[in-house]
Amino acid sequence: MRDKVVIVTGASSGIGLATARVFGAKGAKVVMAARRLDLLERLAPSVAPADRVLCVPCDVTREEDCRALVEKTVVRFGGIDVLVNNAGISMRAMFKDLDLKVLHSLMDVNFWGTVNCSKAALPYLLERRGSLVGVISIAGYSALPARTGYSASKYAVRGFLDTLRIEHLKDGLNVLVFAPGYTASNVRNAALTADGSPQGETPLEEGKLMSAEACAERLYRAVQHRRSQVTLTALGRLTVLFHRLFPRLTDRMTYNFIAREAGSPFQ
Ligand SMILES: NC(=O)c1ccc[n+]([C@@H]2O[C@H](COP(=O)([O-])OP(=O)(O)OC[C@H]3O[C@@H](n4cnc5c(N)ncnc54)[C@H](OP(=O)(O)O)[C@@H]3O)[C@@H](O)[C@H]2O)c1
Repeated sequence: MRDKVVIVTGASSGIGLATARVFGAKGAKVVMAARRLDLLERLAPSVAPADRVLCVPCDVTREEDCRALVEKTVVRFGGIDVLVNNAGISMRAMFKDLDLKVLHSLMDVNFWGTVNCSKAALPYLLERRGSLVGVISIAGYSALPARTGYSASKYAVRGFLDTLRIEHLKDGLNVLVFAPGYTASNVRNAALTADGSPQGETPLEEGKLMSAEACAERLYRAVQHRRSQVTLTALGRLTVLFHRLFPRLTDRMTYNFIAREAGSPFQ
């Protein structure tokens, strides 16, 4: 990865920040994108030396921001080898209680954000026979109750990227669908509730989850080996397998799992 140009969206926190740091440590030129530019600029020295890192303010729901992200990257570093579509938000509310604007937000950030950045970067990725990555979730294989917008958006990203992989099968483009399991980060604090306000707390013991650093290391290795699909954590892999083999049993197991969660939506 030495001197490869890597864009990471959602690089101001969690898995995105850890991913930027791993690529930076391996000698890549890293472009950090997120909405909070001040935070990106404070974190950049921990990613790479100043001449090998670029911070770009980017709201991935805005097509023009994503085009500008790609243009600034190409002007500064001359091309793009890897795009990591990582920016994402979650939610926690039953669909019956949900203001539909929440579902729109989830699709706008998670699905359209990935589409917008991929559209802008694709010509450059093809030029270098690079890698297009989408960070989805186990919830993009096996649905999670009270996360209709989250699961739907992650299933949609998977469908989008699996299609792109086939369209460019003969072009040398690598398309990686990367599905972490539960990983310690800010995602559950920022998750939207029924009215669109952030949850502000996490129902999980974050300290017991996979670390963002371990997750990022796996993402790095998957890009290095040009993998097309990675699912993480033992629980995550088991869930995907069970969902494929025993879908109705998995529905019941998932119900019981979420019912035990602190502040469960079923209570
Ligand atoms: N943590 C988990 O358990 C887990 C499990 C499976 C999958 N994932 C996925 O991993 C990815 C990263 O999540 P995380 O856990 O690291 O969460 P996080 O700590 O909350 O980080 C989310 C990142 O996304 C950025 N972001 C949010 N909305 C954005 C927008 N409209 N435009 C640009 N950037 C935006 C945030 O930056 P700004 O606020 O500065 O814009 C932040 O950098 C997400 O796609 C998530 O679905 C997480």
